[in-house]
This record gives sequence, structure tokens and C-alpha cells, in this order.
Amino acid sequence: MDRRTASIPVFIFLILLLFLSSGCQSADRLTQAKPLLPGDVLISNGGDFALGFFSPTNSSNSLYIGIWYHSIPELTVVWVGNRDNPITAPSTPKLAVTSNSELVLSDSKGRTFWTAKTKIATARGAGAFAVLSNEGNFVLRLPRGMDIWQSFDDPTDTMLPTMRFLLSYKAQVAGRFVAWKGPGDPSTGDISCSIDPTSNNLQAVIWNGTLPYFRYGVVNNDLSVSGVTYHGNSLSQGTVITGDKMYWTFTVSPGSPYTRLLLHYTGKMRLLSWNNTTSSWAVVSEAPTADCDRYASCGPFGYCDHTEAIPTCRCPDGFELVDSLNFSKGCRRKEALRCRKGNHFTIMPNMKVPDKFLFIRNRSFDQCAAECSRNCSCMAYAYANLSAATMGVGDTSRCLVWTGDLIDLEKASSFADNLYVRLGESPVQNNGELLKILLPIIACLLLLAFAALVWKCKRGKQQKNKVQTKMMLEYFRSTDEAGNKSIEFPFVSFHDIVAATDNFSDTNMLGKGGFGKVYKGMLDGTTDVAIKRLSKGSGQGTEEFRNEVVLIAKLQHKNLVKLLGCCIHEDEKMLVYEYLPNKSLDRFLFDSARKSMVQWPTRFKIIQGVARGIMYLHQDSRLTIIHRDLKASNILLDKEMSPKISDFGMARIFCGDQHQVNTNRIVGTYGYMSPEYAMEGAFSVKSDTYSFGVLLLEIVSGLKISSPHLILDFPNLIVYAWNLWKDGKTEDLVDPSVKENCPFDEVSRCIHIGLLCVQDSPNSRPLMSAVVFMLENKTTPLPIPMQPVYFSCRDADPGRTGNSRVLSMNDMSLTALEGR
Ligand SMILES: *[C@@H]1O[C@H](CO)[C@@H](O)[C@H](O)[C@H]1NC(C)=O
Ligand SMILES: *[C@@H]1O[C@H](CO)[C@@H](O)[C@H](O)[C@H]1NC(C)=O
Ligand SMILES: *[C@@H]1O[C@H](CO)[C@@H](O)[C@H](O)[C@H]1NC(C)=O
Ligand SMILES: *[C@@H]1O[C@H](CO)[C@@H](O)[C@H](O)[C@H]1NC(C)=O
Ligand SMILES: *[C@@H]1O[C@H](CO)[C@@H](O)[C@H](O)[C@H]1NC(C)=O
Ligand SMILES: *[C@@H]1O[C@H](CO)[C@@H](O)[C@H](O)[C@H]1NC(C)=O
Ligand SMILES: *[C@@H]1O[C@H](CO)[C@@H](O)[C@H](O)[C@H]1NC(C)=O
Ligand SMILES: *[C@@H]1O[C@H](CO)[C@@H](O)[C@H](O)[C@H]1NC(C)=O
Repeated sequence: MDRRTASIPVFIFLILLLFLSSGCQSADRLTQAKPLLPGDVLISNGGDFALGFFSPTNSSNSLYIGIWYHSIPELTVVWVGNRDNPITAPSTPKLAVTSNSELVLSDSKGRTFWTAKTKIATARGAGAFAVLSNEGNFVLRLPRGMDIWQSFDDPTDTMLPTMRFLLSYKAQVAGRFVAWKGPGDPSTGDISCSIDPTSNNLQAVIWNGTLPYFRYGVVNNDLSVSGVTYHGNSLSQGTVITGDKMYWTFTVSPGSPYTRLLLHYTGKMRLLSWNNTTSSWAVVSEAPTADCDRYASCGPFGYCDHTEAIPTCRCPDGFELVDSLNFSKGCRRKEALRCRKGNHFTIMPNMKVPDKFLFIRNRSFDQCAAECSRNCSCMAYAYANLSAATMGVGDTSRCLVWTGDLIDLEKASSFADNLYVRLGESPVQNNGELLKILLPIIACLLLLAFAALVWKCKRGKQQKNKVQTKMMLEYFRSTDEAGNKSIEFPFVSFHDIVAATDNFSDTNMLGKGGFGKVYKGMLDGTTDVAIKRLSKGSGQGTEEFRNEVVLIAKLQHKNLVKLLGCCIHEDEKMLVYEYLPNKSLDRFLFDSARKSMVQWPTRFKIIQGVARGIMYLHQDSRLTIIHRDLKASNILLDKEMSPKISDFGMARIFCGDQHQVNTNRIVGTYGYMSPEYAMEGAFSVKSDTYSFGVLLLEIVSGLKISSPHLILDFPNLIVYAWNLWKDGKTEDLVDPSVKENCPFDEVSRCIHIGLLCVQDSPNSRPLMSAVVFMLENKTTPLPIPMQPVYFSCRDADPGRTGNSRVLSMNDMSLTALEGR
């Protein structure tokens, strides 16, 4: 800079070289003398982070200033300065420390895109510099060593280890993470995360706009969990209180891989760690994890049960669902609440306590319980495990009470709080008083019973049968072929069925198909059942029907739905089955929101279970039963997501025992019917193999056989699958929502087996026993499937307009009487 050096050109050249190599490659600091230009980067001392200009997508010409990981191949931005003010015009931007010690992003035309909001407005003086630390923090520092701004105090959507995120200051919300607007768009999105000001700052919430999207439990439960370990590394996080500031921070053990906490634009808070082997970010944990985790998704008083394999909404003891088809309507009390001294509280252990609590300071547990039980407007209380840090020194009170509906509850699988919910009267009553009320009632009842007895004896034996059919459950003892006593088979009275289904009300209807409608009902006030009301005109006599049902009820296999009983009333016939709360497979498979709840291992289990169930029907039961209407909506799922085939034996029950192989009554569903059955009415066990093959392809792909428009350029799923298989691209068939982490050889083998099952010629299709074998023995070589001949009912049935065939493209059953 002075005249002496200017006279030695070689020396200045060397200095320049030194400047260039250090300035452009590896400097970690920005000084007033040298602003940062596009193409330049600052690299932290240690090489973990870089700061510079970036474009989130290749196509876009928007430039942002940001910090990213320097030593990994994937551009992973952890901080953005001018997120809402990208540099788009072709100008030359620069990030500079001004003579006034400000950090400013501006361009050659003098426009300012971003300025660091420094702590001290005046008396800054000159000579500040900014340095990028190896933790990923960009710090603006005065020459005397005082930090006046740091990127850790002004985060975007990412929290890094050692960062202290200011949750609240003087009991006000201070910091907020705000997610990107979308992939490749760093601008301020709708999703944000902060402490919840309406909760005494006791809980944090992920917001969608101004509405809560996910609520962490009261602070202790989630935010200050310490000692999470993953892949042998430990992470501790917690809240730190200093004066009137509350921070949230996390640290990882030395030598851990890169770890960051990201608020993703999809509303999820994710803890991610870099995997050196796969060279990608792995999700260590995230929230929300399930559909019913989302804020209030189980409605008032409903809770999301996280101890289930697939979390679902449930009701507390003493409550029932308002609408079993729409969980978000929540739960209601089975008995109206009348406020009495005798009210008791049901204990719900391990709960994430509900939102909208009142925090009552300075109460012991007993005082808290007493306070709630004496006040009728108190619906619930909890003695939450708040950390001492949150409460301030010396205050050990943890009493939370609720006065309105309980919203956003969750049953956790790990440690959480007990919640006490007010119920109606206590079952344990004052005995003296109870007896006073009950004595006259008992006397009345005895008198009535005596009268009935006298009346019954008088009426005599001729009325016996009528009385019997009126009994609630009548057990009919049947005998099998050998004449041995066997299962007891209940006949349920029509009256009870009417009561159980609320007179077949539409709100109780679960679905309908070719055989009739299915209703949900409750028998005996305790057992949930599904009741199938067969359409009229089965053409079968009562006696025949009863014999068929008794035979079918003897089929017992873990992959078949249990038939519990039946009912005959005039010309109405009804079957009573066990009720499965997860309903049918199509509800998961073809629903974009539920698809991801059945990951590949579950799908494979379903495929195997269905195959075993059909094999049992075909050959292991003493009757050979051909199902004839296998489809996703006939596969029900139990609590563990094990499949149970329903509607088996329907053809038998409906049409009587059929020995002939050709039938004039075609029962089935378009798309699942094998060509020979759909066209000629010829059915055999191989027709079921065909339907199974279609079902298998649906399970793998998540595509419906009956919606061919989903698959561009292919007439149907089978042709599509075959073409992909032929080109060795079977992975393209796999449902994108399970593609991640799914063992490709297993999936590919399944598709291959599926294609063998849907071959046009029945003789080429394997028996179900062979299918089960191929699914279980993964090394057995498989034959090559033949190319499918595309058929559609329209092409195959020129006389279609003239006969009574009813075709439906959706998943309703097809019942057609063919005039052949
Ligand atoms: C962006 O460009 C890089 C290098 O040119 C390339 O590797 C990457 O795949 C591109 N990304 C996208 C999304 O096109
Ligand atoms: C990741 O692998 C690179 C080399 O591939 C190595 O330099 C680096 O130290 C590894 N990082 C960790 C955290 O193991
Ligand atoms: C946030 O709310 C908007 C509008 O209600 C909605 O379109 C969007 O899907 C929501 N975001 C998430 C992650 O659910
Ligand atoms: C990295 O990924 C591989 C493959 O998924 C896994 O086996 C390994 O445990 C992971 N390593 C770490 C440190 O996460
Ligand atoms: C379920 O109930 C909620 C609340 O009553 C309502 O907003 C929503 O539209 C219902 N959803 C369906 C599918 O009926
Ligand atoms: C806490 O409650 C007790 C009685 O329950 C009372 O004596 C005490 O003064 C209270 N302390 C505070 C700080 O309110
Ligand atoms: C009952 O609790 C409510 C809400 O906490 C309160 O407003 C009301 O004053 C209480 N009533 C009595 C009698 O304590
Ligand atoms: C409170 O929670 C911590 C862990 O978060 C646990 O160790 C402690 O036992 C709990 N205290 C009570 C009283 O439940």
C-alpha cells in the first residue's frame, strides 16, 4: 500500500498471488477490504462449512447468500440471508462489511438485498470483520472482540449442534424457524415452529400459517429429552434458561457425523444425520410421524394411539366414537356427565397431555386432584412432569387442568404423563343409598318374572318355537357328516340385528357389493360385528341356506374372516362376521394419505397371508371353495395389519352348491375376472389365481386395475406390468410411497409371480399352493410369464347392448345374468 512496495513489481505480484490463493480458496473471514463476489466462498477453519452465493436449482437464475456443508457432495443449505429478496437481475452482487461495520448484501446498481440486524445500532466504529466458524455460524465481530451479529441468532429453517435458539425473551415468543416455501424455494414458507404463547411458553408448536399443525407436548416431554442415541452417537437436547431468556439447544458427541434439525416445508421437523457410506442424509427421527399425530386430528376427546403398529384414533374408557368413519369428529361420552360428588376420573397413562390447559402454580398432586374434582367445569387434570428449569427455581408445581373439550391427545409409546379424565358417576356407590333405590326395583322385577312364568306355562308347548326365535341369541347345535357334535352356531334374531344396525341406517353402512350391503353393528352391547344383508332372490331355500352357512362357518384359518352367525327372517338372509377396525385393503392402497402407512414389509405380509388363505379355501378345507370375487375391498385388515379374506363361500351361499363348472350366473368384479370366466362363465381354482395375480400387482404398484387411465399408453395394469418386466424395469412399477428402503429382489420376485398368475391360459397359471411356495422360497427359479393378450369386456362381448349384463368400472361387484 505504500510507495516502497509499489516500486517492486515482482513483490506485489507475489503478494497478489498469495491474496488470490488464500482469498478465493480458503479464507474464513470477510473484511472491509475484500467483499465477497459470486464464485467466491468463505470456508470455515476446519473445512466443514462454506459461505457464498448459490442458486437452489440449476434452472433458476436467482442468487442467494447462504451457508452450506462444504465437504459433502449434496448441496445442503443451512442458512439463507436474503431468502425473500433473491438477486435476479444480471447485476454484480457483493457481500461486504461496510466502513460502519455493517454486513450488507448489495449490487453494483446500489440496491440493497439484505442487511444483518446488528445488536448495537451506534458506536460501532470501523474495522469489523465477519468470520465463518466451523460450527456453521457466521459472526460479525468488532475489532475489540465483541460479536454484534451472528447467523445462529437469525436462523432460517435449520438448527445446528451448539446453536442456542432463543425460544422466549421476557415471556414473549422470540425466535421462530420458518421452513422454505417449497423444494428449491428458500423464501418464507407457511410452515414455522416456535414456542406457543398461549401455553405459558410450556410447549412448542409447528404452525401452518397461524393454525397449529403439530404440537409438541409440554416442554419436558419432547424438547428436553436428553440422551437420544443413534448409530452409536449420542445427542442431547434441552432448554436452557438464563435470566429472562429461554433457549433451546442440542449437542452431539464428538466424532458424530454431521447432524442437523430441519423444519421441512411438508410440516415435519426432522433430525437428519449424514451417512458417509450412502452419501445421503438419513432421517434419525421426525415429527409428526403419523396422520393422527397432526394437531387435533382425532377430534375432541379422541387420542392418537402411538402404541399401535399403525397409529389410529381411539377413545378413552367411557367414551365412544361420534362417527366411526370420520375420526376427526372425535369421541363422546357413553353416559352424559352429571356433576356429582361421586364423579370419578379415569387414568390414561403415558399421554401427551391435551392442548389449552390452565397452569395452576403452587399445588401438590393431591391439591391438584382436589381442585379439579370439586369444580364441575374441570374436565381433566394432570400433574405434568415439567422440568425444574422451566418452572424456575423452587417452584415445584406442575398442576395442569382442562375445562373444555380435550383436544390433541396422544398416547405415547415412551415415557409421558398420566392424564385424569372426569367420568360419570363412580361405579362404587354408597351401598346403603343404592339398596334403598334398588329394593323396590328388584321386587317389581321378581313379580314380573313370576307373572311371565305363569303366562308361559298357560300358553303351552305350541308357542315354544315362536318364543325361541325371539330369544336374543339362540345356539343351534349342528352335526357334521360323521354325526359328531361340532361347533355351536348362533342364529341371531332379526330384532337384534335391527337394533344393532339402527334399522339398517345409512350411517352404519360399511359398504356394498354384488351380494348385498354390509353394516356395522354391536351385538350384546359388547361385540362389534359386520352384518351382511344379502340381496333378495338368492334362489335358495332356507334349509339349504342354513346348511351352507354352517359348512362355511366351519372354515377356520387365520387369513379368513370369521363367520359368527346368521339370521333368516322371511325372505331376508343375513350373515354376521367379526368386525375388523382397519377395514379393507383398498382403503389403504388407493388413498394417497394412507398409502405410506403400509410399507413394503406389511405389503409382503399381506400378499403371503392372502395366498395362504386362498390355498386353504382351495385345498386344505374339506370343501373346495372357489372365492370368485377376490379383490382389494374383500381383503380386510386386522389390528396387526394381517389380511383376512372376506366374502368367501358367497357364491356357494348365494347360488347353492354348484358342481358344474360352467355357470350362467357370473359373479365377480370387472378387472379381477379371468378371461375365461368373464367370457364363458367357466371357473376353476385358476380363476382365483388370476384374481390373486391382479391383486398382487395392485398391492405392489398401488394402482387400481379398474382405472387404466392412470397408466399412460397402456390398456391396463397387467399389460403395463408385463412391459416393464420385459424391459427389466420392474422397479418402475413399485408404488413410490414404499420404494424407499424396499428390498428390490423381493419386490421384483413378487411382480414376476403376479405375472405368472395373470397369464391368459388357466393351465399356465400356478396353483395357489405353488404360489405360496414361490413366495416363501426365494431361491426357486421361476418360469417365464407369457405375454398377456389384452382383453376388455367391450371387445369380448359384442352382444353387450342386448343382454342384461351390468358392468361397473369402479370397485363394485358385477352380478350378471347372462342369457346364453
Ligand atoms: C444441477 O447441476 C449439477 C451439475 O451441473 C448436476 O449434477 C445436478 O444433477 C443438477 N441438478 C438438477 C436438479 O438438475
Ligand atoms: C467421511 O468419508 C470421508 C472420505 O470419504 C472422510 O474424509 C471423512 O472423515 C468421513 N467422515 C466421517 C464423519 O466419518
Ligand atoms: C397448510 O395449509 C394450507 C392451506 O390451508 C394447505 O394447502 C397446506 O397443504 C397445508 N400444509 C400442510 C403441510 O399441511
Ligand atoms: C449408513 O447406511 C448404511 C446403509 O443403509 C447402513 O448400513 C449404515 O449403518 C449407515 N451408517 C451410519 C453411520 O448411519
Ligand atoms: C369429518 O369431520 C370434520 C369435522 O366435523 C369435517 O370437517 C370433515 O369434513 C369430515 N370429513 C369427512 C370426510 O366427512
Ligand atoms: C403455596 O401454597 C401454600 C399453601 O398451599 C402457601 O402457604 C404458600 O404461601 C404458597 N406459596 C406461594 C409462593 O404462593
Ligand atoms: C372452576 O374452574 C373455572 C375455571 O378454572 C373457574 O373459572 C371457576 O371459578 C371455578 N369455580 C369454582 C367454584 O372454583
Ligand atoms: C420426569 O421426567 C424425567 C425424564 O424426563 C424422569 O427421569 C423423572 O423420573 C420424571 N419424574 C417424575 C416425577 O415422573
